[in-house]
Amino acid sequence: MTKQQSVWVSRPLFPEVLASLAQYVDVRVETKEAKRTQAQLRAKLADVDGAIVGLSDRVDASVVAGNRRLRAIANLGVGYNNLDLAALTAAGILATNTPDVLTQTVADYAWALLLAAARRVNSAERWLRAGRWRGGMRFDDWLGLDVHGKTLGILGMGRIGQAVARRASGFDMSVIYHNRSRLPEAAEREYRAVWVDKAELLQQADHLVLVLPYTAQSHHAIGAAELAQMKRSAVLVNIARGGIVDDVALAAALREGRLAAAGLDVFEGEPAVNPALRELENAVLSPHIASASADTRRAMAQLAADNLLAALGHGPRAGHPPSLLNPQVVGRHAGET
Ligand code: DGY
Repeated sequence: MTKQQSVWVSRPLFPEVLASLAQYVDVRVETKEAKRTQAQLRAKLADVDGAIVGLSDRVDASVVAGNRRLRAIANLGVGYNNLDLAALTAAGILATNTPDVLTQTVADYAWALLLAAARRVNSAERWLRAGRWRGGMRFDDWLGLDVHGKTLGILGMGRIGQAVARRASGFDMSVIYHNRSRLPEAAEREYRAVWVDKAELLQQADHLVLVLPYTAQSHHAIGAAELAQMKRSAVLVNIARGGIVDDVALAAALREGRLAAAGLDVFEGEPAVNPALRELENAVLSPHIASASADTRRAMAQLAADNLLAALGHGPRAGHPPSLLNPQVVGRHAGET
């Protein structure tokens, strides 16, 4: 049966998720993920009603200009700095993201990076794999930094920041955080977290985790000046977005021993990674995989599909996508469906 609506999926997704879309709409799926130009994206979206896109797809005003058919963009991720939300809203296009389903998995990964960087796990593994463990290792070789009992700093205290904080009590850590708005007192008590201003956060944290959204205001929130305020023995973890940290300044601080180590899942201009970071033994680097557990990636993909179907008027939530970013658009289409 020919379906009336078509959607474009910008990368391969789990077959069962694609099947759930295909019950209602024609699905065009790319066979591999690729960084597309604005003109290429514009062409892909020209004759579809909706799309599932990811972080590498920058959907801005130039991409949707003059497109009279496109009704919905479902982003595969909680962060949506790749979408120009104002432009989509102005064009009457519904936009959605994938909050909540990834919170715990991303928080787990922040701890994986923190522990790996503090205890030099990756560096020690490289050394062992290179066949260099031949006896004669000294008692004071491979000294790392403790995590337990220290002060954990968290910049950005949304859902993921709070999940990171909750895990800190298992490590007997005190938690300090900085966020535009303070948590309610009950939540601060639950996480044993104390709000401090940004300068105090940088100076007092033994280890610092970044969990804030990327916006014009958070661009280079951690640059040379901020790194200079941190303890030389600190570990910096970034699971938020590239661009929040000035990677050039970070590489210099790590190389010169002004910061002990870093655990980085995101980079400025990724998938390119600053070569200076790649050379450093005290940087643990991973390719933006904080949400990549099998269960969570499947749940993110299904939520994106459910959002898209609901936005296009299908399924149990028809007309009410579960995680809509611009509800003001809904009314505009009310008379049409
Ligand atoms: C997110 O959901 O924002 C993750 O970083 C994956 O893009």
